[in-house]
Amino acid sequence: MDDKIEELKKKKEKIEKGGGEEKIKKQHDRGKYTARERLEMLLDEGSFQEIGKFVEHRSQKLGMDERDVPGEGVVTGRGTINGRNIYLYAQDFTAMGGSLGEMHAKKIWRIMDEAAKAGVPIIGLNDSGGARIQEGVNSLGGYGGIFYRNSVNSGVIPQISGILGPCAGGAVYSPALTDFVFMVDKTSKMFVTGPDVIKSVTGEEVSHEELGGGMTHNRESGVAHFLDDNEEDCFARMRRLISFIPDNNREMPPFQDNSDPLARKSKDLRGIVPEEPQKSYDVRDVIEPVVDEGDFLEVQPHFARNMVVGFARLGGHSVGLVANQPAVKAGCLDIDSSDKAARFIRFCDSFNIPILTFTDVPGYLPGVEQEHGGVIRHGAKLLHAYSEATVPLMNVILRKAYGGAYIAMSSSHMGGDYVYAWPTAEIAVMGPRGAANIIFRQEINNADDPEAARQEKIDEFRDNFANPYQAASLGYVDDVILPEETRPQLIRSLEAIREKREHRPDKKHGNFPV
Ligand code: HXC
Repeated sequence: MDDKIEELKKKKEKIEKGGGEEKIKKQHDRGKYTARERLEMLLDEGSFQEIGKFVEHRSQKLGMDERDVPGEGVVTGRGTINGRNIYLYAQDFTAMGGSLGEMHAKKIWRIMDEAAKAGVPIIGLNDSGGARIQEGVNSLGGYGGIFYRNSVNSGVIPQISGILGPCAGGAVYSPALTDFVFMVDKTSKMFVTGPDVIKSVTGEEVSHEELGGGMTHNRESGVAHFLDDNEEDCFARMRRLISFIPDNNREMPPFQDNSDPLARKSKDLRGIVPEEPQKSYDVRDVIEPVVDEGDFLEVQPHFARNMVVGFARLGGHSVGLVANQPAVKAGCLDIDSSDKAARFIRFCDSFNIPILTFTDVPGYLPGVEQEHGGVIRHGAKLLHAYSEATVPLMNVILRKAYGGAYIAMSSSHMGGDYVYAWPTAEIAVMGPRGAANIIFRQEINNADDPEAARQEKIDEFRDNFANPYQAASLGYVDDVILPEETRPQLIRSLEAIREKREHRPDKKHGNFPV
């Protein structure tokens, strides 16, 4: 028995060393942790339970018959985050560059299948040279099986990706199919074709960082949702995200008790939204005083900044926030902000997270670039996402709600359950200036002083139509509330509809305007 135990210990130790001291040192010198260190940092202390430690490749060609790849270049298993069951895999760059061959992929498939069976989130930590070249089509098939499971499990269990090193070629599509992508500044890279291939095909010269670094995918492409300076912060943020979301699509998000009084009013809210429609402000200054303890986890804070989305709690219950951001592009809707909000709304709806919208929107961004870029198609995603959502939908119109953008932003016409407005709200087909210019054009042109006449008509329009009362008189707005009443009003409303059930016609799935 002693010999057998000694043999087991040695085998385990060897596998746990991954690619060995030298490779581990190289990994550390790059400011990166090893797969096992990462799992330890991310999970509750001592909770990691490994699955498939002894799996080996069975490839024989191109020198693979001689090659030992400890753990097959990926560590798989389960553990807990704040006591909640989570399945994970972490690619081990020290073992053959974390390259993905047949058995490496099968280890990941197993974990994905287990997570789906258990009905709990899965986190994948990616750090890999991609398809293991020596294993040919078996590597490609391995990715195919991962993409298939990512897609089938979408909307069933939350799927989270950490990009902690290279992630290139078709490998990028697994993270892209998951719900949230975390990147670390300067160490994460994602691209379908790298700088060398780009140079040879298009002649463009670009660095790895510029092409597919953390900031590029957080700010430019919108592929990633979170960016951190180091892996420690990245894991802390992953744990925070998990605290807002449920284990699966049949469960409610976790209730988290806190000491913030339900009836708390914030008089400061009166001073944040300027009455003048052209003046900007930061909508996060409205969100934070309303939600529990000002705790707001913003998602995609660098991308399409004219729309703010993220998670918070009201009375201990998770909510997804969607808000126009007047501080950026006046909070208008455009291609990217529609995409950003639509995807977030669909996540919340899939996982029973009520959606709270703050509206202050002048309309859609005009421009040839937007029209030719498909603002019609992308804007339609927002309408579709809100309309198909059956979770509780609450909306507070803070100031501008003009035209099609008024309809799009969780209006009662599109299924909004509770729509409130502040006294500063202006709900109209368009802004007072545009409206006056169209409907009083002749009077303005014929006036002795056209500018004075224009201003008079603008004021007349604003007094008569640019307010919340016409919409409220028709029942499109449920109540006009004081800013400081927002939190208690929303908490009461959420209590009333938190467990609402809304049934839709049977169908395979809608034809979402992708
Ligand atoms: C086999 C690989 C590998 C791969 C790295 N290695 N990538 N082995 N298949 N794809 C091995 C290296 O041979 C080396 O082995 C070890 O991993 C570490 O790699 P290094 O090159 O020494 O590391 P580094 O200098 O940090 O460079 C990292 C790298 C580079 C930039 C990722 O390794 C690289 O360019 N790899 C190839 C990337 C690639 O083209 N992948 C295919 C993408 S296409 P030793 O023996 O020294 O330890 C793809 C298609 C997916 O993935 C399609 C899905 C549908």
